[in-house]
Amino acid sequence: MKHIIPAVSGGVRMGEGHCTLPHQLGAELDGFAPWCVSAFAQRTGCEIIEGQFLTLERDAALPQEGYRLTVTQEGISVAAATERGVIWALTTAAELAEDGVLPCCTIKDAPKYPHRGVLMDCARHFFPASEVKKVIEESALAKLNVFHWHLVDDQGWRIESKKFPLLQETSGDYYTQEEIADVCAYAQERGVEVVPEIDMPGHVTSLLAAYPQYSCSGKKVHVAKGGGIFPIILCPGQDATFTFLEELLDELLPLFPGPRVHLGGDEAPKNEWKKCPHCRARMEQVGLDSYEALQGWFTGKVNDILKKHGKTAICWNESLRGGACPKDVQIEYWTLQHRDTMQPFAEQGGKWIYADMFECYLDYPYSMTPVKKLYDTVPHFGDQDVSEMDSLLGMEGCLWSEHITECGRVEELLFPRIYALAELCWSGKGDYEDFCQRLTATMSGANHSQIKYTLSDWWDPQGQERQKEAFGYLASIHSNMSDDVMEQTVEATDPGPEFGKAFMTKFFQPEDMSILMKGMGM
Ligand code: ACM
Ligand code: ZN
Repeated sequence: MKHIIPAVSGGVRMGEGHCTLPHQLGAELDGFAPWCVSAFAQRTGCEIIEGQFLTLERDAALPQEGYRLTVTQEGISVAAATERGVIWALTTAAELAEDGVLPCCTIKDAPKYPHRGVLMDCARHFFPASEVKKVIEESALAKLNVFHWHLVDDQGWRIESKKFPLLQETSGDYYTQEEIADVCAYAQERGVEVVPEIDMPGHVTSLLAAYPQYSCSGKKVHVAKGGGIFPIILCPGQDATFTFLEELLDELLPLFPGPRVHLGGDEAPKNEWKKCPHCRARMEQVGLDSYEALQGWFTGKVNDILKKHGKTAICWNESLRGGACPKDVQIEYWTLQHRDTMQPFAEQGGKWIYADMFECYLDYPYSMTPVKKLYDTVPHFGDQDVSEMDSLLGMEGCLWSEHITECGRVEELLFPRIYALAELCWSGKGDYEDFCQRLTATMSGANHSQIKYTLSDWWDPQGQERQKEAFGYLASIHSNMSDDVMEQTVEATDPGPEFGKAFMTKFFQPEDMSILMKGMGM
């Protein structure tokens, strides 16, 4: 049988003969929503009509998202507890089909983690909705179930607001509300939850370029260019900031049908807050002893707006610093230097997602994060393997776009690396050589023909070619960042003395050090 990725976790039994899909495929849905067979129809070219070739059966005893798939010469039957289980069964069926013919088999399958995500940054550089859908389809084929859509940042506001149109007018490219609805429906048919990220209180230069009155100083700023951390952020001292955010979120949150919203909270420099009388007065009013706590308090206020809409917040781990962040937000852990706040949160049962930048950031080239390194990733606190911790929801691969302008480059960076993450999150790590063989076969299959994925000779680059790409990448990041943004970036990320060393040793090798130092003029 054709091997699929992620590997089946619960067993495959081969049967005799084949099943040929009819052009008009009769389906009996047993109360499952009709959209859960739509992607299968699109992928195989079948037209779904009423009938009994494909029969669905609700089995509440199966795990969430798990399924039993039975293919016989007479047809296909699927048992699942949820719509998503049906979708993953039919995703497997579509992957197994070659020219409309499937091998007879019985498959039992279910994922290890409930959160299997990919982040795409459409704010730093804008990518059209057609590309977003392509990434969603290709991720869904790997049974990834979260599309973390990074929609606003210093360099652009990409969500159409009818109430506050200056947001998108000041930034340029954006998704219309109709496009957002279309992307969300497309994702739902594929079992994918769209988690929009509306980053705050930092990474908001584009918002403040349109509405400067919500920063501490109220001074005019321009939409940012290039990468780095920018100093002007939202002012939590002024009530008007929250009135504005509530009106804005009341309009925007209903565009996204999923249960969760990412509120960012990363890299929020506090320089402006430290100079602001409103922020000082707020801290006295609510009894806070640090500016980091003020960020936690801010998160709590916005979390209340989300709750009104029935949504759960996800925040980057910096939000935990200062100790005032609500305990019911979920945390995405990307900066291992902040383990001191992350680990207690996770150990006390706070839900969290592993997205360590050293292992899971996919804007870094393959020379820095090769496929094998990603495949070897084990969620950890220091030396402690925490991959089986109850509070761990799963993992995410993150593609930031400060330095990515082309759709083709997005695809090369995501694919096939995201398949390594998908397998870790679904069936768990297997033998790497075996994985690579399956990956080569999977990516060259007809279902993936529209994707510009990286070919196997560059999955694990070696030698001088690796050094050339990695150093070239680092040099281009540094040359694109102005000195003041660089200073802000170092201050706001609070890297500490160990960070530089960790960065070098996580991404480079001992033989790289001398040439790397020379390249940086040291
Ligand atoms: C991040 O990379 N700033 C979450
Ligand atoms: Zn302020």
